[in-house]
Amino acid sequence: MRQLTLPACLLASLAFTTAQITPVSNAAFYPYGPGTADILDPAADDGTSGEQSLSTQFPFFGNTYNSLYVNTNGAISFGGAVTGATTVAFPVTDNKVIAAFFTDIQTNHTGHIYHRETVDADVLARATIDIRTAFPADNGGFVATWTYIATWHEVGMKGATGDGLNLRSTFQLVLVTDGCKSFVLFNYDQIQFLQSGSSGGNGTNGTGPNPAQVGINGGDGTHYTIHPYSRTTNLYNLPTWTDPAVSGPAGRWYRRTDQALIGNTPALVCPSSYSQRRGEKCLKMFKKPTKSYTGAKATCASEGAELFIIRSHADTEWVVGMLADFNSRTGKKRDVWIGLTDEDTEGTFVWEDGTPFNVTGYAPWAEGAHEHNNEFRNCVFINKRKNWLWYVQKCRGPWELYAGPNSYICAKNAVPAAPDC
Ligand SMILES: *[C@@H]1O[C@H](CO)[C@@H](O)[C@H](O)[C@H]1NC(C)=O
Ligand SMILES: *[C@@H]1O[C@H](CO)[C@@H](O)[C@H](O)[C@H]1NC(C)=O
Ligand SMILES: *[C@@H]1O[C@H](CO)[C@@H](O)[C@H](O)[C@H]1NC(C)=O
Ligand SMILES: *[C@@H]1O[C@H](CO)[C@@H](O)[C@H](O)[C@H]1NC(C)=O
Repeated sequence: MRQLTLPACLLASLAFTTAQITPVSNAAFYPYGPGTADILDPAADDGTSGEQSLSTQFPFFGNTYNSLYVNTNGAISFGGAVTGATTVAFPVTDNKVIAAFFTDIQTNHTGHIYHRETVDADVLARATIDIRTAFPADNGGFVATWTYIATWHEVGMKGATGDGLNLRSTFQLVLVTDGCKSFVLFNYDQIQFLQSGSSGGNGTNGTGPNPAQVGINGGDGTHYTIHPYSRTTNLYNLPTWTDPAVSGPAGRWYRRTDQALIGNTPALVCPSSYSQRRGEKCLKMFKKPTKSYTGAKATCASEGAELFIIRSHADTEWVVGMLADFNSRTGKKRDVWIGLTDEDTEGTFVWEDGTPFNVTGYAPWAEGAHEHNNEFRNCVFINKRKNWLWYVQKCRGPWELYAGPNSYICAKNAVPAAPDC
């Protein structure tokens, strides 16, 4: 008996650790499974690999991470395991995930989940070429120094019954970085179900009202990107889809991931010292020294900025809030130039950026402003003594008593975050 049980035990454990699967022969896929150093996760439902430490920090959506989690439900997560799969469309809070195929997957009736960090020379060479080919403008000089490959091989859906037990999907995520920029390759070989039977779908045919999500969710409710097929029946066509934005093999989608994205474009951030954000603009308030309109304009220009133009009531409220706070803290009375002048043609106001001033549009003039306006008083400011309404003043001092603006606000456009490396 003893001689029989030992080999049986050995066989069982071999079957578990080196499952005899045949990796897909798909040009988009990186090597995985038997013959690689892949970790094979135990069969699971709502499972996770647990925290996987990384030898290189992975830049992701404006942060860097030194560990990640490979989760059963078709996603890699950062900052913690994500064992559920939300059907709510990205962007959502929590779920800081790269979602290859985010739905209720299980691997106890079919499928294997493999993953590994690798700096294997062949893999890095291939990743370097793939990224350079896909992003030629940015990355002629990109050299991959690290990758992480996670593969969901012939996984099934939870809640599968009858024919549903035969439905399988195979897909892969490849994370690539040079330590500065980062990219993710989403690879698809076959998709046979859209939504699990356990999450409101049909367990026999794998369809449902909330098909799987494909994309990236930053976890803050704002930053995300989604594949055009995400949450649609087109998911079945992922294996033959070609990304129109980049050149690469069929069945592959790409995203650059070091910058946070909002849809398809990098989220904009403020340049340093211009930390106050107003829509597309970033602002910096100069409280002193007092400057003439032209002086204020020149200071802004020297910073690569322009005088902040107040276009709406919301802008006014925001500025007034900032000034009121400053004034109450300091006991000072500060007003601001608003980037509007009729210096060139008396009575014809123009915005500092050259856009025409809409005389019937937003223009909260103070009482008496028009009477006060003459050929000597050509520059407009928000006047604290006039209940924060618009008033005109000489563009250069000396100003009349209690009527001179003494602060200004410079504005720069928010810009895509540049990697600081
Ligand atoms: C897989 O796991 C689920 C949840 O634990 C269970 O309901 C199901 O019966 C299991 N299926 C198989 C084939 O083991
Ligand atoms: C799958 O099931 C849904 C309802 O659960 C049904 O509407 C749909 O027609 C079915 N699809 C196929 C291909 O049988
Ligand atoms: C699920 O799909 C199967 C196969 O298409 C169909 O026969 C069955 O009626 C569907 N179940 C429900 C609850 O719609
Ligand atoms: C000017 O403002 C008025 C009132 O808000 C608006 O109806 C009009 O369309 C604006 N004109 C232009 C050219 O923007």
